[in-house]
Amino acid sequence: MTQFPSDFLWGAATAAHQIEGNNVNSDWWEREHAPGTDVAQPSGDAADSFHRFPEDIALLSERGFNVYRFSIEWARIEPEPGFISKAMLQHYRRMIEGCLAAGLKPMVTLHHFTTPRWFAHRGGWRAADAPELFIRYVETVLPILRDVEWICDINEPNMVAMTRGEEGTEMAAAALPSPDALITERLIESHHRAREVLSTLPALSGWSIAGQAFHAAPGGEEEMRAYRYPREDVFLEASRGDGFIGVQAYLRTFIGKDGPLPVPEGTETTLTGWEYFPQALEICSRHAWDLTRGVPQFVTENGIATADDERRKDYTFGALSGLGRAMADGIDVRGYLHWSLLDNYEWGSFDPTFGLVGFNPDTFERQPKPSIDWLAQIARTGNLAR
Ligand code: BGC
Repeated sequence: MTQFPSDFLWGAATAAHQIEGNNVNSDWWEREHAPGTDVAQPSGDAADSFHRFPEDIALLSERGFNVYRFSIEWARIEPEPGFISKAMLQHYRRMIEGCLAAGLKPMVTLHHFTTPRWFAHRGGWRAADAPELFIRYVETVLPILRDVEWICDINEPNMVAMTRGEEGTEMAAAALPSPDALITERLIESHHRAREVLSTLPALSGWSIAGQAFHAAPGGEEEMRAYRYPREDVFLEASRGDGFIGVQAYLRTFIGKDGPLPVPEGTETTLTGWEYFPQALEICSRHAWDLTRGVPQFVTENGIATADDERRKDYTFGALSGLGRAMADGIDVRGYLHWSLLDNYEWGSFDPTFGLVGFNPDTFERQPKPSIDWLAQIARTGNLAR
């Protein structure tokens, strides 16, 4: 039986563009509506969480969870360069206060994949002054973060470096594009500068890294390490000295002599086409612990895209069992956030459903699935039971 510590934090995560709806000033919205776009479905109203965030907070607080991770949308705060929307700052402040009033610790992400259109037009993360502009935004939101305990400055910089590269588009593919070295450098600089700025707050700050549980196929050891380094390890190394590292894990990938191998025929896969592999979380937690040399961890995302809610419980049970083993070996993990609170816009499609809660696409009415009550019971007792 796995028993989590009584001060372990439990909750679920979301990201602004994936649930808020009508994020019209963001680069993603523009891409979704560009003539001949490669994006299958636009985000549209998403789950209308921009208006319904109080209900979303209540879904967690009423069940006894104690953390909600959400992101602030830069494109709303600064829709034009240097133009700051005070109303949008107040909107996100209300979200923070809504969490605190409901007994939830907000974990606030400052950048979750999307940027303002104008930032993208001037070269995005490749522009020489991209870190400067990001820091200006971080300084702008600083006052509303005054009583936030957990801040994630950038979500999955490793995915940003891969999916914003020349060839990059595919968010969901297991075989990852080559990371863009310049973007990697700019993101690491941005993170280190943001850490300085955020150190003026009482919060613990860090960033979240997409882990993939890379396995070497026979004879592929060296290739696996060479493949993993620029896609993951360089970002984990850059996390040394952070207040925490956000561990995010979903799947594993085998690397052979010629690169990543497809998921073998007959293997169970999820709605994103990834191998069903709950052990990924334990593997990524251990790897992050080694590479960061012991930075405290928070599982900032873990979950499964499935239409079978029983399978969601199985997956989560498997992932949490592995996390318990890693913690029993001394890895300092402070909390677990399930991805995701809601079914949402999975970067091009609403079909891969990751949510503990569904929603009616016409009325936006929230439809909790049995898995949210199952996870809440674990959260309240700390006892991992089926
Ligand atoms: C991202 C989320 C995404 C999830 C599932 C992570 O890469 O942070 O935005 O929805 O994985 O693909």
